[in-house]
Amino acid sequence: MTSAKIPVMYNYDWPGRVKIGAGAVNTLPDYMALFGGKHAFVLIDPGVRPFMLDTITAPLHAAGYTTTPYDKVIPNPDVPHTDAAAAAYRESGADVIIGVGGGSALDMGKGVRVLAGADPAASSRQYMSSNPDAKPMPAIRDMPEMFAVPTTAGTGSEVTPWGVITDPETHRKGGIGGVSVIPSAAICDPELTYGLPNFLTAATGVDTLSHLIEAYISIYAIPTMEEMILRGIRLVGENLRQATAEPHDLTARHHMMEAAMLGGIAISSSYVGSCHSLAHQLSTFADMHHGLACGIMLPPQMNYLLSAAPEKYLRIAQALNPRATDAAEAPQAVHQLLVDCGLPTKLSDAGVNEEVIDTMADNAIIDGNWMCDPIAADEAKMAELYRAVY
Ligand SMILES: NC(=O)c1ccc[n+]([C@@H]2O[C@H](COP(=O)([O-])OP(=O)(O)OC[C@H]3O[C@@H](n4cnc5c(N)ncnc54)[C@H](O)[C@@H]3O)[C@@H](O)[C@H]2O)c1
Ligand SMILES: [Fe+2]
Repeated sequence: MTSAKIPVMYNYDWPGRVKIGAGAVNTLPDYMALFGGKHAFVLIDPGVRPFMLDTITAPLHAAGYTTTPYDKVIPNPDVPHTDAAAAAYRESGADVIIGVGGGSALDMGKGVRVLAGADPAASSRQYMSSNPDAKPMPAIRDMPEMFAVPTTAGTGSEVTPWGVITDPETHRKGGIGGVSVIPSAAICDPELTYGLPNFLTAATGVDTLSHLIEAYISIYAIPTMEEMILRGIRLVGENLRQATAEPHDLTARHHMMEAAMLGGIAISSSYVGSCHSLAHQLSTFADMHHGLACGIMLPPQMNYLLSAAPEKYLRIAQALNPRATDAAEAPQAVHQLLVDCGLPTKLSDAGVNEEVIDTMADNAIIDGNWMCDPIAADEAKMAELYRAVY
């Protein structure tokens, strides 16, 4: 069944190229050749550099390409680190960016890509916005090509148009980018996620689930994407427990990487909602991992929006559990997935101080993602949702 209501005008912002499967990383030289690159600036997460840099660079060197590695990537990347990486890119003389890591490294790579096409004195702060699509970006021809190599199966940043950057002066996260910043190619190799610890496998996987569910419910949802999104939700429901329990299960890892990529495509056109507005504050005020923050806030947000889209929530419930008969089973199934994957479900169990709830609620409203929800929120509602899972 498809939705009766069709938006008047909508986007299909699809990725240009995606290679997915075990060994995909060996195709990087093909993409260098395709786009005419000679020298790659390999922006790599320091946590994976020791055991992954050679895997990335060996096929490139064998094909005659030069690489410059750079690993000053931090989780929830901020303005100063992104600006410093852009300066290092310029100094390196490279002509292509390869981002290797989770969403943090890929997002920083997007920031570098934008700054590489801007005035050398520019800062990533100038390009940040809660509505990045409305912010002018350097022209595509002025920016280097970027290949995104995810090592988590979560954010979908390998196919999305924005990087998420934190401004340490305001504690706010903002998007940087727009349709011109969708990576030139996404190289999704599930074997790169084998080393992810259980917690990160689970937390990044529920980030994916939040993307799929929020895009499906969004007021910018697109009928054509509905079956694709439901497939992504099914893949998470069927594979996240297994990927968490058995890190080297290639089938589970492959399906989670596919789900993450589908979630990225879904939010590229339909965006995320209040779950992400709430989650972003948990990262900037309580230093919580992005995926965990999304996972904890997803069930209360779903309960709150249930009445606005009962048919869609029933389909979500059935994607997670084919025997489901009631929309209210959807948030319950997400809660159970968190429990089964060993993730906390309460903010008090995840190190959040109750005193920051009202400040976070105010900031969650400044973070405009909630505007994509089918029900408008306010500060009091945001505080209520935090307290529902405190
Ligand atoms: N651009 C987008 O569209 C988008 C969407 C959602 C989230 N985000 C952003 O992405 C960031 C979160 O990204 P993330 O959840 O992928 O985590 P991350 O990139 O912050 O990485 C988390 C940790 O995982 C480690 N790690 C990564 N891959 C590993 C591997 N294969 N083996 C062992 N350790 C590994 C890293 O070293 C790091 O310590 C946040 O800043 C969030 O705001 C962006
Ligand atoms: Fe997310």
